[in-house]
Amino acid sequence: MKKPLMVGNWKMNKTVSEAIEFVKILKNTISDVTDIEILICPPFTALYAVNNETRDSNINLGAQNLFWESNGAFTGEISPTMIKDIGCSYAIIGHSERRQYFTETNKIINKKTKAAFVTTLTPILCVGETLKEREDNVAFKVIEKQVREGLFGLTLEQASSIVIAYEPIWAIGTGETSSPEQAQEMHCFIRKIYEKMYSKNIADKVRILYGGSINPNNVSDLMKKPDINGGLVGGASLEAESFTKLIRYFK
Ligand code: 13P
Repeated sequence: MKKPLMVGNWKMNKTVSEAIEFVKILKNTISDVTDIEILICPPFTALYAVNNETRDSNINLGAQNLFWESNGAFTGEISPTMIKDIGCSYAIIGHSERRQYFTETNKIINKKTKAAFVTTLTPILCVGETLKEREDNVAFKVIEKQVREGLFGLTLEQASSIVIAYEPIWAIGTGETSSPEQAQEMHCFIRKIYEKMYSKNIADKVRILYGGSINPNNVSDLMKKPDINGGLVGGASLEAESFTKLIRYFK
């Protein structure tokens, strides 16, 4: 049985002091949780301070992005080595906001995914279609391309340990969640792609998260679906109280 994973993607929010305040509360409210993996992804500037707070807790730390080289003249970039060194075990890669605002292509995302594995970071590879693509009935085609090109050249071991996050772009930050049935349909489709690319065994192993306007009211119906193995949460992960409710959805 795959352990569900609940991820808070803070995006470009929280100063260091706000981040510390959040983590001090969260540590207490979820200290007894063992049957779900908890991950927060603060901005780079808060990682060091947050790691000092979470080191001996059940809260894991992740980055929101990385660059594929390990060091060198790449002004403004952060390497997988640096991210690992600061205490992260995961990195979000190819979030739709990076595809949209920073023109990240599937090729770039694939390079970043491979670079994460070099330093034993677990990538969370994000895929998702726009509203127009859904309306034009090409959503499944778009997702298949993103999954195949994002995973290109990975070993079987890497393909089974990576985390995939399905985030329909029209559901991000809009309050409009994909229905649990719609999300399940796409998650099942992604697992089928996995089966074609690798094997049924690997397809069964990979964790596929849903993201897009998850909140304490809709989380339980989404997480009951057989192919949804956790959530990637933006807005509702910014307050310790609502993020705690999401982590405890299974109770
Ligand atoms: P919201 O939960 O705010 O819709 O954001 C989802 C997301 O983009 C998480 O990565």
